[in-house]
Amino acid sequence: MNTEILSTHTKELFQLAVQRAAQLLRAGELVALPTETVYGLAANALDEGAVAKIFQVKGRPSHNPIIVHVASGEMARSCAAEWPEVAEQFARSFWPGPMTLVLPRAKKIPNIVTAGGETAGIRWPSHPFMQAVIRECGFPLAAPSANLSNQISPTNAGHVHSQLRGKIPLIVDGGQSQVGIESTVVDLAARPPRILRPGMIHEESIVAVAGKIQSPAGAGTATTLRSPGLLKKHYSPKARLMIACWRDDADLAAQIKNWNCKIEHVQIVAHTKIPVGLGAANVSVIPHDAEAFARALYAELHRCDAAGAQLIVVETLPDRPEWTGIADRLKRAAA
Ligand code: TXA
Ligand code: MG
Repeated sequence: MNTEILSTHTKELFQLAVQRAAQLLRAGELVALPTETVYGLAANALDEGAVAKIFQVKGRPSHNPIIVHVASGEMARSCAAEWPEVAEQFARSFWPGPMTLVLPRAKKIPNIVTAGGETAGIRWPSHPFMQAVIRECGFPLAAPSANLSNQISPTNAGHVHSQLRGKIPLIVDGGQSQVGIESTVVDLAARPPRILRPGMIHEESIVAVAGKIQSPAGAGTATTLRSPGLLKKHYSPKARLMIACWRDDADLAAQIKNWNCKIEHVQIVAHTKIPVGLGAANVSVIPHDAEAFARALYAELHRCDAAGAQLIVVETLPDRPEWTGIADRLKRAAA
């Protein structure tokens, strides 16, 4: 299959791409679309056959449910069987944006989307292109991240192209994803609500809206089955990834030697203690700011893989609420 790539950087190109994407989606095809978190691989959420193609193309296990994307409060409510006051509060506080709400599903949401479960994950993304396509279609879009199963999510059209070219008819280039890691997933079917997947909307903001929340359960509990994105190993680069803390260059060199990797095959991602003159393949400096770090992280990991790294060493992150979503992804990538 020939994969078309459409740009969106002028008003005319944007409109053309919206029309083309909507045309394919109406015909039951898959389209890779930009969102503010990561790129999504979208299908008509109400078309079982179209959603089945997502599982096929990604190699995604059928027990992993897919998030339903909407472009209005009304569309969100139409995907849920119940809309409790807490959902209204979350929607008002965090939508459109990087927040997925798990609620009892409406009957119209097919089994394949919810992986047979009685809940649906619903998100109203803020990316203007994604919103325009959903409005043009008039139906919600089921969309997981647009990567092959277990690989790193794409944050630009090039990342999608390198994993999915030849497998889907269209990739829409909407620029670099502004958030950079996947949405926060909160289970509102649980009382009190529970964070199933941390993200850039962090616990303190959620507690401010929800009042009480359940403490997140670790991997290996019932939660893992409720949200397979919580499986211990997930979102991995091809190279081995280590999270490390070092006093100085010599300390880091000693640790790398212990991991039995030649320094010239090592890529280092640092934000405070920047090693100089170690002889590593590359040292990247990502800003010491959670939002900027999240935006840059996946592109860095994609770049390290493309460069053929054997080992990626990432400097330990600060232990503060705004870093928890990023720390979660790094921990899984290192598992
Ligand atoms: O930011 C995002 O959420 C991106 C963009 C494209 O919207 N999407 C994304 O989708 O990350 P995916 O499929 O890669 O991850 C969705 C996560 C998975 O961990 C899945 O198990 C969980 O959300 N999930 C989806 N529906 C659920 C449900 N009904 N109950 C519990 N977890 C659910
Ligand atoms: Mg994913």
